Amino acid sequence: MNVLKSLSILLTTAILTMPGVLAAEDFSPSERATILSLGPWPPALVQDSGNRASGDLKAIEFGKKLFNDKRLSKDDQVSCADCHKPELAFTDGMALNEGYKKITRNTPAVTNLRWNNWFGWGGEADSLWAQSIRPILSRNEMAATPSGIRRVVINDPDLSCRFKATFNLDPAGLGKHELLVLIAKALAAYQETLVTDVTAFDHFRDALLAGDRNAMSRYPRAARRGLKIFAGSGRCTFCHFGPRFSNGEFSNIGVPFFVAKGKVDQGRYGGIRTLKRSPYNLLGKFNDDGTAKNTVRTQHVTQRHRNWGEFKVPSLRNVARTAPYMHNGSVATLADVVEFYSDLNEERLHTDGEKILRPLNLTDQNKTDLLAFLETLSSGLVTKPGSPDPFRECSSVSRQ
Ligand code: HEC
Ligand code: HEC
Repeated sequence: MNVLKSLSILLTTAILTMPGVLAAEDFSPSERATILSLGPWPPALVQDSGNRASGDLKAIEFGKKLFNDKRLSKDDQVSCADCHKPELAFTDGMALNEGYKKITRNTPAVTNLRWNNWFGWGGEADSLWAQSIRPILSRNEMAATPSGIRRVVINDPDLSCRFKATFNLDPAGLGKHELLVLIAKALAAYQETLVTDVTAFDHFRDALLAGDRNAMSRYPRAARRGLKIFAGSGRCTFCHFGPRFSNGEFSNIGVPFFVAKGKVDQGRYGGIRTLKRSPYNLLGKFNDDGTAKNTVRTQHVTQRHRNWGEFKVPSLRNVARTAPYMHNGSVATLADVVEFYSDLNEERLHTDGEKILRPLNLTDQNKTDLLAFLETLSSGLVTKPGSPDPFRECSSVSRQ
């Protein structure tokens, strides 16, 4: 009797915990098409025509060194990696970082950036290299100056040697802006290589495409139900679409944008102004693309009233590892983000706001499922086999 009872318990547990057997018919044809459009991952890594250092092995190594060098900041206080920490998926885990002065925006991950059109929460830069100059000169972040950076590079034999080896140019012969731009281009070359790996979701998506039910059944049922909300009734893919889970543009989803009493973060509205005024934008002389084909977006972008309070649609790759959330770090956990969309405050949405958004009024089960799905979007970095030291000619100077 006892044996039978335990056998039946065993059997019931086995059936209950059995991975789902089918999936294709869980999704409508349009949901299926949407899901397939979230991959394949990763997209091809084409060279950035505006950056002569893009894809160059020496520049990548040099950029990595610079990314970890505190001397790019005033009084050698912080490096890029102090805010974009590799062990925290290249974020800092804080709502708002302190830097030199209080910063009013959350530190985003610097992964999968090669495919972005705009950089910064308000799209203040139109290239990864121009964005890499912003923290160096920002009084809140690294508070350095072009002449300070020039001094650091010229006075350090190792940095000078690496600079020469990378760009075939003597840094001492360059003006401070030219030199700063090349430093930023090496930083960008390194950051382009920070690509996240395939995730449980990607395996499922590829299995769905191949019609491989066995492989599909390895994806947890809760995540599958969450995916159905994400790509269907929740309308999340209206903005978080494509392999990066972002349309690369800006929206106002009702996250408050007051930064202090009487002071607002204008989001995309201010971002366009900053972009247009920047001497480092793609319309300026530092763009390496002789055809100027990469300037079209920057030429045509114009400030519109609706851009007030719009912020960049963040990629959701690795999202479970990049808390806290939103441009101001105001939402602590991923479960809170799900609550946010469930109870969306329609009154807070801008008058020109997104017509697509409405409170989803999710059940507890829906919320758990959506969360389970979002948690399947994380992975480590794609790692490549290390190359031999490309700066052997500098090893004697660095030992001096
Ligand atoms: C004090 C912390 C801090 C430091 C140091 C720092 N960053 Fe950032 N980083 C931020 C914050 C905050 C933002 C968001 C800025 C904004 O939206 O205006 C950001 C944004 C970025 C972005 C834009 C990412 C995107 O999704 O658009 C890139 C690229 C970046 N930083 C690279 C760097 C590099 C390269 C360095 C070093 C030269 C650096 N950061 C140093 C805090 C920091
Ligand atoms: C109208 C476009 C739009 C839709 C639809 C939308 N989002 Fe977003 N999402 C955004 C924007 C814009 C932000 C950043 C807002 C900010 O910081 O002010 C964001 C932020 C997020 C974040 C935080 C990511 C981070 O790194 O800070 C998550 C998670 C998220 N959305 C998930 C979802 C889910 C799940 C849905 C569907 C229920 C959804 N989004 C629907 C535009 C959208």
